Amino acid sequence: MAEFLRGKTVAVTGAGRGIGRAVALACAAEGASVVVNDYGVGIDGSAPASEVADEVVKEIEAAGGRAVAVADDIATMAGGERVVRTAVESFGRLDGVVCVAGILRERMLFNMSEQEWDPVIATHLKGTFTVFRAASALMRKQGGGTLIGFTSGNHQGSVSQANYSAAKGGIISLVRSAALGLNKYGVTANCVAPVARTRMSANVPTELKEIGEPEDVAALVVYLLSEAAREITGQVYTVAGPKIAVWAQPRELRAMYAPSGSWTPERIADFLPGTVGVDPMPMLQQLEAMAKAAAAKERPNA
Ligand SMILES: NC(=O)c1ccc[n+]([C@@H]2O[C@H](COP(=O)([O-])OP(=O)(O)OC[C@H]3O[C@@H](n4cnc5c(N)ncnc54)[C@H](O)[C@@H]3O)[C@@H](O)[C@H]2O)c1
Repeated sequence: MAEFLRGKTVAVTGAGRGIGRAVALACAAEGASVVVNDYGVGIDGSAPASEVADEVVKEIEAAGGRAVAVADDIATMAGGERVVRTAVESFGRLDGVVCVAGILRERMLFNMSEQEWDPVIATHLKGTFTVFRAASALMRKQGGGTLIGFTSGNHQGSVSQANYSAAKGGIISLVRSAALGLNKYGVTANCVAPVARTRMSANVPTELKEIGEPEDVAALVVYLLSEAAREITGQVYTVAGPKIAVWAQPRELRAMYAPSGSWTPERIADFLPGTVGVDPMPMLQQLEAMAKAAAAKERPNA
């Protein structure tokens, strides 16, 4: 064992199942003491159960590691604070937080209810904020630490999960803001977009061309939490089985300037199509191929 995280304390949300569980087990195997947070809910966020986090703590302890369970809802400020406080009370410090907890409530935008929008935004986006908020205050005093958020390739847009896509886009902006705001305190912030076989990915209606196991995602997270990645901040990485990819930073592509200093709608109509134009949306281009596959009763590729 490389003991990449020897002496560190790491808190992982959504660590009772799927990717979060694999991250918690890998961190413990690499020498970290681990706070295992999981609210133990169904895929839509309903019916909480505290045993889910306890089971992973037992697994870590049985393998000779150190872990403590927190069964709180990280969509609440108290839940996020409890995760951070438990790390300090149990292990004396907190070096990294990994916000993996997530739920799905799928619906077309024109049918989506407030009850389908709010809990998805609360679990993913606010659930990352609550933990980052408490952890960053501590890490600023400590003079170092690592914040990791979980996004998705779907931050580019989603046909039937506008709530999830919006939350995942928000997490990227939150991570970039944390990277900027905490840089001078030695705290890094990065984002992981995983593709791995879990109960959540089993729900996707398309055949995923590139997919791996939760353990593949855990290896990248351990690296990002380690001293070897101290210089990396403000990045978004996809991990899908054998593939790891970095996403581009958002930037302006082309600009046009009004000759007289101001534009009118008519002048914009004259100039925009031939100058700044558009940047074609890759996911929009995939829709047609997917619709054809679905009509042929095949499981379309994504
Ligand atoms: N599996 C994939 O291919 C994939 C793709 C893109 C993004 N993701 C993201 O990766 C993360 C993990 O997904 P997964 O596939 O392992 O899902 P999963 O459903 O297997 O696990 C999610 C865990 O989060 C917990 N959770 C939910 N709400 C919580 C809350 N309020 N407080 C604390 N815990 C809570 C659940 O109880 C569950 O154990 C999610 O953020 C998901 O959006 C996964």
